[in-house]
Amino acid sequence: MEQVPINSPEIIKADLRLFQQHQQEILEIERDLIENSSSAYLIDEENELDFMLDAFRKGGYSYLLMEDNRAVGFMVMGPLNDGTELPQAVTENYPVENCLHIKVMYIKSTGEGIGSAMMDKLLEELDKEKWKYLFVRTWVDPPNEGAINFYTKHAGFEVVPDAIVESTKTKKDGSETFQIKRQYLSKKV
Ligand SMILES: CC(C)(COP(=O)(O)OP(=O)(O)OC[C@H]1O[C@@H](n2cnc3c(N)ncnc32)[C@H](O)[C@@H]1OP(=O)(O)O)[C@@H](O)C(=O)NCCC(=O)NCCS
Repeated sequence: MEQVPINSPEIIKADLRLFQQHQQEILEIERDLIENSSSAYLIDEENELDFMLDAFRKGGYSYLLMEDNRAVGFMVMGPLNDGTELPQAVTENYPVENCLHIKVMYIKSTGEGIGSAMMDKLLEELDKEKWKYLFVRTWVDPPNEGAINFYTKHAGFEVVPDAIVESTKTKKDGSETFQIKRQYLSKKV
């Protein structure tokens, strides 16, 4: 008979209450990955947390990757049409009321197929009557090549033409701000 490892990671759907129980671990994952990656910006944890909690307030939910009762990965989804200004290329070409935005996705141990497994779970359990498209926004300048590869080559997302937005971030040491560009990607479900 096949043995199930006792502490194998498990992907669970999490509402706001469960998410908040693990929010310190969630912020740690984000902090560690930012520390060790080229996406050199200062993480303002209060804003970051508020950004995620806002998605729940607007009807969103999350999946957590749990190991030994600790979160070791997460994704948070919320409606795309949540009051954020959207590029015309998005509002004109998509039914924005029926688009679900993956607002954040971070995995502690990258490149082991976990992101793909979480995406499969999201799609499998998705309310397809309500949600017709998935959306993400990834950094293209400076580029987050890993994420672009993951979404386009593994998860079946497509670049939405003319849908790039600019914003300002602060450098890791807080010394200066810099401009970044993010590209919207979409996937029909
Ligand atoms: C992007 C992310 C969620 C993908 O999850 P994952 O579990 O690493 O992805 P998988 O193992 O299922 O798929 C592997 C693919 O992911 C991409 N990838 C992204 N970051 C990677 C990394 N650090 N190591 C290895 N592969 C990575 C590659 O395209 C890889 O495919 P390849 O082997 O053909 O090059 C995860 O790497 C992550 O959390 N990255 C840091 C945070 C981030 O950039 N989040 C997205 C913000 S929009």
